[in-house]
Amino acid sequence: MNNFQFKNPTSILFGKGQIKNLSAEIKKESKILMLYGGGSIKRNGVYDQVKEALADYEVIEFGGIPSNPEYSTLLEALKVIKEQHIDFLLAVGGGSVIDGTKFLSAAALYTGDTPWDMLTANKPITEGMPFGTVLTLPATGSEMNSGAVITRREIKEKLAMMGPGIFPQFSVLDPEVIKSIPLRQLANGLADSFTHVLEQYITYPTGAILQDHFAESILQTIVEVAPTVMKDPSDYQAASNFMWSCTMALNGLIQQGVPGDWAVHGMGHELTALYGIDHARTLAIVLPSHYRYHFEAKKLKLAQYAERVWNVNTGTIEEKAKAGIDKTEDFFHSLGIKTKLSEYTDDYSETGTIVSDRFTQRGWLGIGEHGTLTPADAKKIIEMSY
Ligand code: NZQ
Ligand code: ZN
Repeated sequence: MNNFQFKNPTSILFGKGQIKNLSAEIKKESKILMLYGGGSIKRNGVYDQVKEALADYEVIEFGGIPSNPEYSTLLEALKVIKEQHIDFLLAVGGGSVIDGTKFLSAAALYTGDTPWDMLTANKPITEGMPFGTVLTLPATGSEMNSGAVITRREIKEKLAMMGPGIFPQFSVLDPEVIKSIPLRQLANGLADSFTHVLEQYITYPTGAILQDHFAESILQTIVEVAPTVMKDPSDYQAASNFMWSCTMALNGLIQQGVPGDWAVHGMGHELTALYGIDHARTLAIVLPSHYRYHFEAKKLKLAQYAERVWNVNTGTIEEKAKAGIDKTEDFFHSLGIKTKLSEYTDDYSETGTIVSDRFTQRGWLGIGEHGTLTPADAKKIIEMSY
């Protein structure tokens, strides 16, 4: 096991009816900016619950943060924060609203010329305006981590920022919010969280027995609850296990002491930036090709995964590892998620080259758990995904 230092400061308020308790987490004298997305919270009752909980506060609202939170929209929210002297942010939404709020938390205290530089500087974000979240879509884990991914459409870029300054102070996780989530987004949440675990697990053996079992138990739970979540999102037991699995998949716990890959996300973000494909679906496109391409380097963990998560108990290491990849692809298909780029766009003949050129321009010359996945490898992997 590798050395590590671990701290996660986010308080979690989990369960039915917890939204009403959020006021206990925010100082009474705060001036709050409540941020949300395209309006689903107004249709499913979450907006009313939050407003009721904040009845004693001064609250200003900013709605309209789109999926893949857009830089230009966020700059408008930043103006409101400054003009209205806001001192607390409350995100009410999925990963996009939460990530947008993290960006704003950092941007509110940023002293440089243009806040976009925070995304290109490759420096950890060490301070941010305090914020909390009310999660409405289990998927990203953003509610309990310190990462954010921001899109800037004018230059077709989608870049990540992270650092200890942008952990939420608290997050409210009420599984009842799942009832109103459309099937497409439920599938995305299942596939995204599943891939988050795989990014931290399908690397190479390091003897981190506990982390492996943590990872496997999250994968097993997602596989077990997926059919019920998709069929009946009002099933509270399935919803609560789904929600907590998504949070546990990316709150830092399973990453401690083990290598991380994250190349699937690196390549996937490019497909969202280029074509607007849903985040989770880009992962389902890239992941099978990435594992087939890096079969030798990853086969021991793939075989362990096939045995422990998919009960593949016969065959050689190679046969089990191959079965692990096939089972993963089947799982994505079972959620109604297509795994070929050509099933999302006709404009893919140059995608491998474009992604590889972007990696080179950014100086991403070696990514993945060994730091050896080059832009030329990314090109081949994307081409295998056509
Ligand atoms: O905007 P509204 O109207 O609220 O509708 C949203 C949106 O259209 C809808 N929705 C959310 N909760 C709902 C609901 N509809 C009905 N009922 C509810 N309870 O779902 C749609 C998608 O929401 P979005 O927030 O975009 O989805 P998700 O949570 O999948 O977030 C995706 C973003 O997170 C980033 C992705 O790259 C992408 O930009 N990620 C963030 C990560 C992180 N911070 O750690 C890690 C991830 O790997 C990922 O990169
Ligand atoms: Zn993801």
